[in-house]
Amino acid sequence: MTLGEVRRRFLDFMRARRHCVIGSAPLVPQEDATTLFTGSGMQPLVPYLLGKEHQQGARLVNAQKCFRANDIDEVGDNRHTTFFEMLGNWSLGDYFKEEQLEQIFLFLTDVEKGLGLDPQRLYVTVFAGDESLGIPRDEVSAEKWRELFAGVGIDAGIAHIGSQEDGDARGMRDGERIFYYDAGENWWSRVGEPEAMPVGEPGGPDSEVFYDFGEEHTDPAFAHLHPHPATDSGRFIEICNSVFMEYVRTEEGFGLLPKKNVDFGGGLERMVAATEHTPDIFTIDVFDGVVQALARASRVSYSDQPAPFRVIADHLRSAVFAIADGVLPSNTDRGYVLRRLLREALYNLRYVLQVEGESLTSLSAHFISAYREAYPEVVAASVEQVIGEEEEQFTKTLRNGMRELERLFKKGSLDGQTVFVLQSSYGFPKELTLSLAEEKGIPVSLDGYDEAMEKHRTLSRQASEGKFKGGLSDTSAMSVKYHTATHLLHQALRDVLGDGVEQKGSNVTPERLRFDFSYTEKMTDEQKQQVEAVVNEKIQAALPVSYQDMPVEEARKVGAIGVFSYDDIVRVYSVGDYSKEFCGGPHVENTEVLGKFQIQKEEAVGSGVRRIKAVLASC
Ligand code: ALA
Repeated sequence: MTLGEVRRRFLDFMRARRHCVIGSAPLVPQEDATTLFTGSGMQPLVPYLLGKEHQQGARLVNAQKCFRANDIDEVGDNRHTTFFEMLGNWSLGDYFKEEQLEQIFLFLTDVEKGLGLDPQRLYVTVFAGDESLGIPRDEVSAEKWRELFAGVGIDAGIAHIGSQEDGDARGMRDGERIFYYDAGENWWSRVGEPEAMPVGEPGGPDSEVFYDFGEEHTDPAFAHLHPHPATDSGRFIEICNSVFMEYVRTEEGFGLLPKKNVDFGGGLERMVAATEHTPDIFTIDVFDGVVQALARASRVSYSDQPAPFRVIADHLRSAVFAIADGVLPSNTDRGYVLRRLLREALYNLRYVLQVEGESLTSLSAHFISAYREAYPEVVAASVEQVIGEEEEQFTKTLRNGMRELERLFKKGSLDGQTVFVLQSSYGFPKELTLSLAEEKGIPVSLDGYDEAMEKHRTLSRQASEGKFKGGLSDTSAMSVKYHTATHLLHQALRDVLGDGVEQKGSNVTPERLRFDFSYTEKMTDEQKQQVEAVVNEKIQAALPVSYQDMPVEEARKVGAIGVFSYDDIVRVYSVGDYSKEFCGGPHVENTEVLGKFQIQKEEAVGSGVRRIKAVLASC
């Protein structure tokens, strides 16, 4: 089945069972600061699970866009993705365990209305109970499962496993199909195990369903174990989970929620893979376009080297959805996660698969067409623009960064300061550097990384406070001229008074410029005339004005002056060969349009800081 088909079947199935379909909430949680991204179907419904009435009633169903940043490093195998859709149904105090397990079993196995999965391939888990928490063993679910399997002629053996480790030591025995695990496996809350839950957090025992892709898919490292379902052997993959959410964490331990709820979540992509009986979710239809385009452009076959295909496909798809919900690349929080996804994807595209004929932007079109019907917010124009800009920016530094990295690798180890410089100067996310170092077996110590980051932040903050207050956003023609004249003045002051001159403030209006700089003495008339003469000479020389974006370290090397900005990539404006300065613009194209530069006033504005006011006369 295709992804769209499985999604549609689930919604129809639950609709026929009187569930109301609710839309997916955005990936960026609304009024919920607990996580950066929506990570499960229940997250937007927490208030209702805690007891609030839902306008659409007590039976709800949807497909929810989810993103789990914690899984970024897992991507590359056949089943982990950062973005996924979770099929969900909820009972808010309506039906409970038995009806839930019955309908899910029917959905998974029914050929006509469900997924038609072979029940022989389904294995289930239930909660073993926890005496210290006073929460009993879930015998109701175990018995229900036994009955459901019996209904299709399967005699399902019940096994008490306990923890993962116990299961690894014991293995799975013939005929076993229903497994009791402890809270490490069969308790669900947003933060995991009961002990980790903050007061007020809802949670409960759960019952998971695993699909058996066949013994032939067992990772050889697990073969001797007779793997049980919950171990990560590759043979069994969890496809869905019914949480019986009836508990809430209290100061003392656990209390009961006002209602007994069901919170069901099914991994849509994994379910599609089960219908295709392939454990590799990257072979399902929505990834086809990108995987084929990559194979064509790289001449690498997916089956020979799947990991980079998966990283590119996963990261790009996540980026498309994050951007569609308003996230922009930046150096913090969600923006940083997005930046990391795009940059790691680009690294894999250019360096691992060595593709030149495709770009992240061109590849994103495959996801846009696969999803825009189900998710109309996935709009080509905005997605392509954001990806295109980020791609262009990182492309500029990727090659130099890789060269620098090779050079650093020769030293045999990396320290935190170096990792930071690679990030701030070449745009290499810390995690990318770490994984490249790991690949080469180069040890990395992150000592010094946080310090370097903090120093950079302080400088940036001071810079933005000092410089960007004031008139730079004024783009009237006259202000733009004054802005360019300010760059000439800055350099001329350094020529005449020495390199000790540093900008302390700047403000332009359509009528004049004002420039504050460090200098301890009053300027003499002669010095003022000299400065005017230099500026006017540069104006008359008709110097072209241009800019280039580059890593901040490179900008320093080429001698750019001024206050640098927050970003790892900075824009440097050049006025001919005369001035190079960190700046966001805008500027005139050529100095010839500036007119005649005249200093009107030079005065002190604090200890060691002088201020010049100057005008441009039109004659
Ligand atoms: N909320 C449950 C999960 O995410 C269904 O697994």
